[in-house]
Amino acid sequence: MTILHKSFVAAALVAAGAMAFSGPGLAQTETASEVTSVYKPSVGQSGKDVVWVPTSQALVDRMLDMAELTPRDHLVDLGSGDGRLVITAAKRGASARGIEFNPDLVALSRRTAQAEGVGNRARFDQGDIFKSDFSNATVVTLFLLPDLNLRLRPTLLNMKPGTRVVSNTFTMDDWEPDETAQVTQGCAGHCTAYKWVIPAKVQGTWRMGDKQLVLTQKYQMVEGTLREEGASTPISEGRIAGTKITFVAGDQRYTGEISGRTMQGTTEGGGRWNATLMKP
Ligand SMILES: C[S@@+](CC[C@H](N)C(=O)[O-])C[C@H]1O[C@@H](n2cnc3c(N)ncnc32)[C@H](O)[C@@H]1O
Repeated sequence: MTILHKSFVAAALVAAGAMAFSGPGLAQTETASEVTSVYKPSVGQSGKDVVWVPTSQALVDRMLDMAELTPRDHLVDLGSGDGRLVITAAKRGASARGIEFNPDLVALSRRTAQAEGVGNRARFDQGDIFKSDFSNATVVTLFLLPDLNLRLRPTLLNMKPGTRVVSNTFTMDDWEPDETAQVTQGCAGHCTAYKWVIPAKVQGTWRMGDKQLVLTQKYQMVEGTLREEGASTPISEGRIAGTKITFVAGDQRYTGEISGRTMQGTTEGGGRWNATLMKP
């Protein structure tokens, strides 16, 4: 057992206390406690690439708040365990899907979703997250391990700009999170969540009126220059949040919306600008 796996298990002994879902929907054929009496997973039990440890319900709630989940969203939890993130998202009106390798956890999640009255919006698939297509998700949640996050990173970065990714505890190496949150109540271990918003791709040379905007991009950070005849102005504070871009060139702050090969927006003084990608 690796150190990470050990820390997972220790903290999870407390987290397991928060396993029962609360809320309406138990007037079904089976109660939540009847469901867990059929199959009761053990915290720290082995999984394909990482052991099962449940996210505390307090952090589940915080993660969905961070994702700004709405009923229009489709959430996918990668390695969905007993289904709590998916079921909580479904209770908030979103459609949600869990991908979980362990068939017993999948069966347990399906039964709990039925018992909680959200079987129509919460779906669970038995499968390997590294072999599954989840490109239609608008929110992705995960509680895995640093190396697994890194393996997923290229896939996540290719998702639709604006997709939110929220991870319990583990980061994405040098891809800095856009937001970090901690819960202090109702959580005894693994109480920090990180959020990233998938940035639109803007690297390249753009025509902006009679100027050229040359951008280099690393994740959500942007650097570059605004060039016009005889002058080259470095840009600063360049940042992308989903399909929105902001940067400063000279004494002007530019904000805009990216749509494929075009961008348009305003400057702080109220002027309008637009740009077309000439060379990626
Ligand atoms: C730490 S638990 C997190 C469970 C749940 N997401 C939560 O936050 O409560 C990780 C889960 O991933 C599952 N898992 C591990 N490797 C997997 C893989 N390659 N594909 C699908 N599920 C996997 C484990 O069985 C376990 O249920």
